[in-house]
Amino acid sequence: MSEDFVLELEHIRKEYPGVVALKDVTLQLRRGEVLGLIGENGAGKSTLIKCCSGAVVPTSGKIKINGKEFDRMTPQLAAENGIAIIYQEFNNVGELSAAENLFLGRPIRKGMVIDRNAMEEEARKAFDQLQIKIDPRELVKNLSVGYQQMIEIAKAIQQNAQVLIMDEPSAPLTTNEVENMFKVVELLREKGVSIIYISHRLEEIFRLSDRIEVIRDGEYVDTLITPKATVDELIKLMVGREMTQQFPPRKPCIDKSKVVLELKNVYGNGDEDMSLKIHAGEVLGLGGLVGAGRTELAEVIFGAKAKTSGQILLNGKEINPKSPREAIDLGIALVPEDRKRHGALLTNSIKNNINMPIYERISKASVIDASIEKENAEKYRKEIQIKCPSVNQLVRNLSGGNQQKVILGKWLAAKSQLIIFDEPTRGIDVGAKYEIYKLINDLVESGHSVLMISSEMEELIGMSDRIIVLAEHQMTGELQKEEFNADTIMTLASAIVDNADNADTKEAS
Ligand SMILES: Nc1ncnc2c1ncn2[C@@H]1O[C@H](COP(=O)(O)OP(=O)(O)OP(=O)(O)O)[C@@H](O)[C@H]1O
Ligand SMILES: [Mg+2]
Repeated sequence: MSEDFVLELEHIRKEYPGVVALKDVTLQLRRGEVLGLIGENGAGKSTLIKCCSGAVVPTSGKIKINGKEFDRMTPQLAAENGIAIIYQEFNNVGELSAAENLFLGRPIRKGMVIDRNAMEEEARKAFDQLQIKIDPRELVKNLSVGYQQMIEIAKAIQQNAQVLIMDEPSAPLTTNEVENMFKVVELLREKGVSIIYISHRLEEIFRLSDRIEVIRDGEYVDTLITPKATVDELIKLMVGREMTQQFPPRKPCIDKSKVVLELKNVYGNGDEDMSLKIHAGEVLGLGGLVGAGRTELAEVIFGAKAKTSGQILLNGKEINPKSPREAIDLGIALVPEDRKRHGALLTNSIKNNINMPIYERISKASVIDASIEKENAEKYRKEIQIKCPSVNQLVRNLSGGNQQKVILGKWLAAKSQLIIFDEPTRGIDVGAKYEIYKLINDLVESGHSVLMISSEMEELIGMSDRIIVLAEHQMTGELQKEEFNADTIMTLASAIVDNADNADTKEAS
């Protein structure tokens, strides 16, 4: 008896010059199921699904849709056969309305003219169907990332997608947006759409999927039934070895007598009033919900955003960095959250990117010391496991997670006195996370200070020496290590938000 598969990939191989991205991967998607697809950075997940959409042409292997074999997939064929992919970068056009985006490239016409009313009507229906509240006339650039993603999903449904493939859909979303996206995924499953869901967050995979396929180094490893799988088992399948520890041990290294950074009543563009201290050898965690103002605070310290009042002191001396360049020269680094936009030079090599902040330091009379340059790049390639054929590879050709590692490497190489990490491990696989934590430990153990913004509770608790929580641009609490507790942090993170929401339904407690 043959099973009812809507999509089958058989022995897919994809070679690039110098890299075999996929060696031999097989995948079978059942009708109406959610299949989680997991694997380390560079394992080949994105390449595999691009083979389904025709964006990448496999070197060899077969693709079957509803049992029909295709020896060559093209974007056109994929769409005609009901395959839709939500990439991490959306294809929306910001200057057009939600409705116009929904019908991009295939507008509804009445005779010769575009029928705007009909498109808006259809868009309204499509959004209603997904139970999302988007005004069809709103320009897409005014919509949140979550809504922009919803338009992409609605577009797929409009085009009668039977298979929806989502590549790390939760990565750019806020907690609330993630919840909404989950609801839409559930709804689609009920409607019989089959879904492939890629994520590095295992809790999402457990919550949504029916089965989980693991790939490693471009090869198929195993497929597990979700309710029977365990986190440890999945990690072992992904990294190929047992991982008992999530956080590497750190030697005690805080020097309370040395305040490296101090903020005194700093106000930025928001309504924050921030006073805090970071000591030498300390990891100060900054917790809170997305939008709480943590990134803005980091940008003020880094000179990327102006403060309106208050004082910033570095080693007891007041500083006023007006630009990131000034901050870097003062010994402050920021590893940004949106690494695509602020981080990597995609058309440059890994080596070039990693050495970027220190070229001056490793040059004599404007001549770069090529051996130090290479050595540096190799060091970080090894330490944070950047998967690449050589450090001369262009960053553009790396997998998403590996691009992020390059940017981390760049700031680690700068060896700044204070390093601000904004969501250091977003999009990074479990094995490499551990290595990044080790590097953070190395930094503080050798006297550097770290300010770490993280929305991942486990990471915040596991890595911080002290945690400050923000809510709506205000400090709502400070916790010492012995007070760390997920519930307390969540309560502090939503403190002000809750009060506002429940203003008229306040319960006596
Ligand atoms: N255009 C390209 N040229 C050369 N190598 C490439 C190209 N595209 C991808 N690769 C390589 O193929 C491998 C698989 O990359 P892929 O993007 O599929 O990984 P991934 O599993 O999606 O990882 P991540 O979790 O980091 O997103 C990587 O080693 C990557 O460097
Ligand atoms: Mg990927």
